[in-house]
Amino acid sequence: MAFEHGETVRRIAAGLKGRPGPLIEVLHAIQAQLGHVPPAAVPLVAAELNLSRAEVHGVVSFYHFFRTTPPGNHTVSVCRAESCQAMGSEALAAYARRRLGVDFHQTTPDGRFSLEPVYCLGNCACSPAVMIDGTLHGRVTLERLDTLLSDVDRKR
Ligand code: FES
Repeated sequence: MAFEHGETVRRIAAGLKGRPGPLIEVLHAIQAQLGHVPPAAVPLVAAELNLSRAEVHGVVSFYHFFRTTPPGNHTVSVCRAESCQAMGSEALAAYARRRLGVDFHQTTPDGRFSLEPVYCLGNCACSPAVMIDGTLHGRVTLERLDTLLSDVDRKR
């Protein structure tokens, strides 16, 4: 069966291949459009940019930003940079892992939540910070995180 997003991937790669060092830009554009970089996109990108599959795969797997599976319905990002760490973000991270039953870069089996690390959300003055579905939350305690996750869980 043909890869359903093949045309989209080819169009993105063809549109950007004239740029200097276009691979990263192409991968970002694919992820912005599809929500992830499907493994089936790798040979198409390689062919379009005249690179080996191994080169493309290497870049996708090197940068944690790129995901190879679709994101969950809700994305929970816990800041793990210095200021937030100093204010207890590791405890938040441990709680989020336990509560969702997944590690960072993973999605719950029911597809509801993806858990992601971020490295500074520009909210250091209100550390520790968490972003849920694009909304920033500061000075997050374990209790607050619990409430935020319960609120999100009530949505579909
Ligand atoms: S270190 Fe977490 S918001 Fe800056």
